[in-house]
Amino acid sequence: MTIKKSLVLFVVLMCVALWVSVANAQQAAPTPQINLMPVPASVTFHPERLTVDASFKVATRGHSDDRLKAAIARFVKRLEGRTVLTFEPGLAVDDQMTQLIVHCDGPGRNVPSVAENESYRIDITRRQAILKAPTVVGAIRGLETLLQLLNADRNGYFLPGVLIEDQPRFPWRGLMIDIARHFQTMETLKRNLDAMAAVKLNVFHWHLTEDQGFRVESKKYPKLHQLGSDGNYYTQEQVKEVIAYARDRGIRVVPEFDIPGHSTSWLVGYPELGSAPGPYTIERRPGIFEPALDPTREEVYKFLDGFLSEMAALFPDEYLHIGGDENEGKQWDRNPAIQAFMKEKGIKDNHALQAYFNTRLLKILQKNNKKMIGWDEILQPELPKDIVIHSWRGTAALAEAARKGYHGILSNGYYIDLIQPASQHYAADPLPADSTLTPEQAKHVLGGEATMWAEWVTPETIDSRIWPRTAAIAERLWSPRTVTDVNDMYRRMAIVSLQLEELGLMHKRNQDMMLRRLARHEDIGPLQTLVSVIEPVKEYRRYQMRPQTMLSPLTGVVDAALPDAEGARRFTWMVKEFLADAPRYQLYRAELTQMLAEWQESGAELGPMIDRSPALKEIKPLTKGLSEMGDVGLEAISYLRLGQPPTREWREATTLKLDEAAKPYAALEFMVVPAVKQLVQAAVEIGQPRRAPASSTQ
Ligand code: ACM
Repeated sequence: MTIKKSLVLFVVLMCVALWVSVANAQQAAPTPQINLMPVPASVTFHPERLTVDASFKVATRGHSDDRLKAAIARFVKRLEGRTVLTFEPGLAVDDQMTQLIVHCDGPGRNVPSVAENESYRIDITRRQAILKAPTVVGAIRGLETLLQLLNADRNGYFLPGVLIEDQPRFPWRGLMIDIARHFQTMETLKRNLDAMAAVKLNVFHWHLTEDQGFRVESKKYPKLHQLGSDGNYYTQEQVKEVIAYARDRGIRVVPEFDIPGHSTSWLVGYPELGSAPGPYTIERRPGIFEPALDPTREEVYKFLDGFLSEMAALFPDEYLHIGGDENEGKQWDRNPAIQAFMKEKGIKDNHALQAYFNTRLLKILQKNNKKMIGWDEILQPELPKDIVIHSWRGTAALAEAARKGYHGILSNGYYIDLIQPASQHYAADPLPADSTLTPEQAKHVLGGEATMWAEWVTPETIDSRIWPRTAAIAERLWSPRTVTDVNDMYRRMAIVSLQLEELGLMHKRNQDMMLRRLARHEDIGPLQTLVSVIEPVKEYRRYQMRPQTMLSPLTGVVDAALPDAEGARRFTWMVKEFLADAPRYQLYRAELTQMLAEWQESGAELGPMIDRSPALKEIKPLTKGLSEMGDVGLEAISYLRLGQPPTREWREATTLKLDEAAKPYAALEFMVVPAVKQLVQAAVEIGQPRRAPASSTQ
């Protein structure tokens, strides 16, 4: 081979190698070991750092306004809080000595919009950090990233050298809070808006009316809030305050008035709007109820015109959510006048009647320059293409809407009230990899919303049902689709969870407070041990197991217990590592042994605690389960250590114990039963030919 030929071959091989490594990098999309959540679109680290000390100063370049200055002031306050450093107050002049330059090109939209440019770029060198954004909202997103970048070592605090270029995958990234089933205070809403901004969510969907409450002041029809809310409603001044607070954080506020169903509370003050004569009282139970507005009477549309025009003026967002879900039309079926109307107009069924209702609503919204958004049920051919279908039924429904040319957002998979693990929400994607939509159709999929339905949350517990899991949903909606490493998501989510506490979120701190109240004592160790491995039952089983109404206190162990129970996750992970370490069985053995011994002990200690606290009586069966799983787990580990298979009697007794521990009590269930079963199974299989270990990716 000539030198020239080998050179050509060498270059070709290098190119192939490079191409392969790039292709691999794209395919595997390794999440960098960073603590950012959501993961930015592009991150490149370089080996330098910008020191953050008492001389830290911020200056603006280009556009500046009150909203930007307020965002920078909040940023500085949090940076001071974390570092315990005092910076000189106010903005600095833009010079070589200023550590952070925020360079904004313009204000962006006056009213936060789905069309807002939220992109930003961060360039950090040892001299300076420059945050550049086309809009103030982009700068606000970047400031949150900067706070997440803050790091420290023995030399002090610093921002790592990095180049980040970031923009969201979807323009609609929301959190719906139902404040109707249970009312939430202004403080609760504000701290949740802060948390939303921290993970770059940009739509607060305010579910304002339900069977169980009408929660916004109407000056035109005051009996709505006066008789429909028990006095728990937001004044129009408070609504404006929330909208301003959200706007300051680059968050839209989309109000929902759920009609024609879910409307009992409207009818308490105005029974004449209903499809049955009434009288009506505020609904106190959870569930789906019959009351529905009468879609056949002109007075109803006159009322809705008055009310929705009032609300359209109050809420500046271009969208107004009309709900439209779960109207079963039972009142319509029984009302002779409605049946006669349908016959006369040739309306063939209740779905068509609701379509007629929606078409009338649409005219009212259009007159007020609002676009309509509603749940899946509203989809019908007569509606214009600028409406948004809010899919609670699934990606298939969403894709179908997109194929027909309708915009849509996804909430199926993001029902955070169902107490499912963050990993499950993380896997739900508005545009999954196997989507068959054309690129043109895919553009109709605008994003998604986490939905906090509020049958079982109060201001005391709502944060723990929203956070930190909603951070995983926020990442799904912001980050590239290829960001899917579940273990890394949990690692970063745990970090973000602590940062949310600095914003006043109570998702972690309230648990101990609630346990102290239940225990009537400062020492809650055994109770903490129990709640670290149990979770509330999933989906809609809680009500079946432990019926309550909207008037019941939500202060039981089921309310203190959290989704994604941390002790259970840790135990499950350690068991997997321990069993993979066969036949040594050394890895995590000490930790597992300690944990199981704690279960034994706590199970016993809970007895006297329950005797002192009658409210804890309902968890008595769980204390037995906790102790017995401790016993069984320790015994299994001991068999494995000795390499001795257990007797058949042990195996049978153990099976009975674990079957019992698998039963939920007090709407609570152990999340560690499968892992304990794995230990037992491994012990039972001692001496049998070993199967290949399961793949150790979670
Ligand atoms: C819904 O879950 N009924 C929107």
